[in-house]
Amino acid sequence: MSTTAPDHAAGVIDIGRGIRFRRDASNTVPVIDFSPMLSSDPEIRRRIAAPLRRACTEVGFFYLANHGIPRPVTTRALAAMRGFFALPEAEKMKIHFQSTANHRGYVAEGNIKADHELKGGDMHEAVELAQDLPADDPDFLRGVKFYGPNAWPAQPADFQWAMGTYFDTQLEFGRLMLRAFALALDLPETYFDQIYTKPMSRLRACYYPPQAPDWDVRNIGIGAHKDYELFTTVWQSEQPGLQVLGTENDWIEVTPIADTFVINLGDLMQRWSNDVFLSRPHRVVNLTQEPRYSIVQFFGADYDATLTAFPSCISAANPAKYPPISCGAHTEELVAKTYYDG
Ligand code: OGA
Ligand code: NI
Repeated sequence: MSTTAPDHAAGVIDIGRGIRFRRDASNTVPVIDFSPMLSSDPEIRRRIAAPLRRACTEVGFFYLANHGIPRPVTTRALAAMRGFFALPEAEKMKIHFQSTANHRGYVAEGNIKADHELKGGDMHEAVELAQDLPADDPDFLRGVKFYGPNAWPAQPADFQWAMGTYFDTQLEFGRLMLRAFALALDLPETYFDQIYTKPMSRLRACYYPPQAPDWDVRNIGIGAHKDYELFTTVWQSEQPGLQVLGTENDWIEVTPIADTFVINLGDLMQRWSNDVFLSRPHRVVNLTQEPRYSIVQFFGADYDATLTAFPSCISAANPAKYPPISCGAHTEELVAKTYYDG
């Protein structure tokens, strides 16, 4: 067994145990220029449709450049995360997610296993949050965990402000991203607006310690999984670690590219599009010698929205494969499987 970390500069690396992966540097995972969507001209906005459709039908993963989210929103969130994860464990445990009623707060190392087939826990810590709604929110009162108050840490003092701003900025961005998806799906641009009025969205601020050289696939940063919702945005620090399963069953590193977000589609989007858009397995293995941070935000629809296949994705050759499903019920079922005693 090798005791040295693999050389990340190489193109194709055998990292042992028969697993190979390729460094991507955006050859396989395309970079989509979002700037057309920021135009007030509908003809210009439409230019995103073809490249985005290609990314969604062929890969299910892409980088988004020129997304319009101000850089300080991200750098402040990162600084707050660094501060939080550096705290003593006892301090972090004060907001442990199992002490809250609605899956918010601190997830300690090993608390989740994203790969439901494997026995080991995942090697990362996280803080989970969602829309910060009051405890008397009517949907929270009727038992919908996704709508309710967050569990904010007392330290760092600006954590709530920094992460809350990141979350809200992304949530608003999500509305525009859905319009881009609508164009890519050959649907009216505002198709999703009516199911994005109080959308379920979750954020995971993640810290991945460096993986030991004798790492075992049962305990990696986050085990292989697909996301559950419509789509996910991932901001990643400079340290690579995210990998997507390629169509040739090899893991492709989604190398960080400055000032971009990675976007991947989730199972709900695949289902809603009648399998025209792809939700691909991915995982994280931090093989660098440094901590890796990521901010992952999942975008769902309104809890009570019902998904019936997009008209543009049904044809004689591709008849509807799935019965209509409630967005909320689907997400709850999958999230429950992922957490130990969750
Ligand atoms: C996830 C995920 C990737 C990352 O939380 O679902 O895939 O880079 N995270 O943290
Ligand atoms: Ni994921």
